[in-house]
Amino acid sequence: MTDAVSVQWFPGHMAKTRRLITESLPLIDGVVEIADARIPVSSRNPELNAWLGDKPRLLLLNKADIADEAANKRWIRYFAAQGIPALPVDCKTGKGLGGFSALVNDRLGHVLEKYHQKGMVGRTLRLMVVGIPNVGKSSFINRMAGGSRAKVADRPGVTRGNQWFTVGKGIELMDTAGVLWPKFDDATVGEHLAFTGAVKDVVTDVELLAVRLLELVGLRYADRLSERYKIALPAETDGPALLELIGRKRGMLLSGGVVDTERASVMVLDEYRAGKWGRITLELPDDEKEA
Ligand code: G4P
Repeated sequence: MTDAVSVQWFPGHMAKTRRLITESLPLIDGVVEIADARIPVSSRNPELNAWLGDKPRLLLLNKADIADEAANKRWIRYFAAQGIPALPVDCKTGKGLGGFSALVNDRLGHVLEKYHQKGMVGRTLRLMVVGIPNVGKSSFINRMAGGSRAKVADRPGVTRGNQWFTVGKGIELMDTAGVLWPKFDDATVGEHLAFTGAVKDVVTDVELLAVRLLELVGLRYADRLSERYKIALPAETDGPALLELIGRKRGMLLSGGVVDTERASVMVLDEYRAGKWGRITLELPDDEKEA
């Protein structure tokens, strides 16, 4: 296999994220964490556990429409076993969001119960949305708040700039979606974030990235590549050879008949990110987690 792509990152973001999220904690009843269903490990920041303490949390596995359906089910079971209720959703079309209110009531019903006992009838559940850039936070809020975006009147004690929207019965979402920066523990995390386009601006070697993606996908979803590009895949997945094969098939040639591998790389990454290879999950729970 080709060596991993090195992805640069800026640790300064992390301190700001921690401050923003921890400062908001007294204002909220729970957190809606959004992760990318294609990379449920790399798209979550493990620091969040410490920052949130025992604040109730729900997990949305977004972009479930372009992730492997069987893998989505396995992840839901995996998170449930960890005590984190998770829901596969597609915030672009709204598919799966019908189950959101039920999940909130399941997880936070006891909080409402407590408010009622204290005589706070009509008190709503206030949730903060967090997730890494491009994971779908705005899409989620827009879908849930709908066209009306019924804004809750200014409320004392709420950090200036934060807006609240009523989304369904008794639930409010904080509109200042918490941008959670990813944590690059190892090269795999950075690479997987780059594959999906979550950190595309910080990757310099597009060609190496495309080669690595082809190698990874070629291992478990070889049929998708042969279908998409009408090629017969060699028994041994060799990324550079695969990129060249695909580029040639698409007629991306330079003078002298040499394949324009840079153009082919951009095309390969764009098509994967747009879901054109079909539904593909790059990380599986536990034993089947990709190296
Ligand atoms: P953010 O607020 O967390 O930064 O993310 P945002 O909602 O802006 O979504 C980032 C991109 O991901 C958008 O695509 C959005 O359409 C897409 N997206 C969000 N949720 C889903 C989903 O469940 N499935 C799929 N397939 N895509 C999703 P974009 O290319 O930036 O814009 P556009 O394609 O909508 O024009």
